[in-house]
Amino acid sequence: MPQDFLTDIKTLRERARQHIENGAVTEGYKADRANVVRLLNEALATEIVCVLRYKRHYFMAQGIHSQAVAAEFLEHANEEQGHADQIAARIVQLGGEPNFSPEGLATRAHAEYVEGDGLVDMIKEDLVAERIAIDSYREMITYCGNDDPTTRRMLEGILAMEEEHAEDLVSLLEELGAH
Ligand SMILES: [Fe+2]
Ligand SMILES: [Fe+2]
Repeated sequence: MPQDFLTDIKTLRERARQHIENGAVTEGYKADRANVVRLLNEALATEIVCVLRYKRHYFMAQGIHSQAVAAEFLEHANEEQGHADQIAARIVQLGGEPNFSPEGLATRAHAEYVEGDGLVDMIKEDLVAERIAIDSYREMITYCGNDDPTTRRMLEGILAMEEEHAEDLVSLLEELGAH
């Protein structure tokens, strides 16, 4: 038996019983939990700001090409909402509290809320925000490493979707001849 790197079952069971109240967080959790929760709350704020920005853009999209673009904005808004929900659930699982307070929301978020002036401008602002999200998720993934594989996997899934969002926006700009 490869005992040297696998913790034996008896020890695992004892550990699991010791801190029942910690829920999903066991002794084997290697990351700095408070810091992971803090980072996740920043990501949550970012996603909420992105929902708000995409919603504003969805309702404000006007002009000949507005229908397809508005549909894309709405789809992104809904997907950012999904990310926010996933992140909030993970924060609770880690024993933290998701911060949904409107106070300081814009300061906590990495990405900005920019209203944009016209379709092209809105798409460009969304692209900037997606690129910021991509970079911050990538950094968070590196930070989690093997210390919190569950959070890392969740973030990897979100990152992949932010990359799709950025690609969608670049395609829209190309279609509008604005790239
Ligand atoms: Fe997102
Ligand atoms: Fe996104």
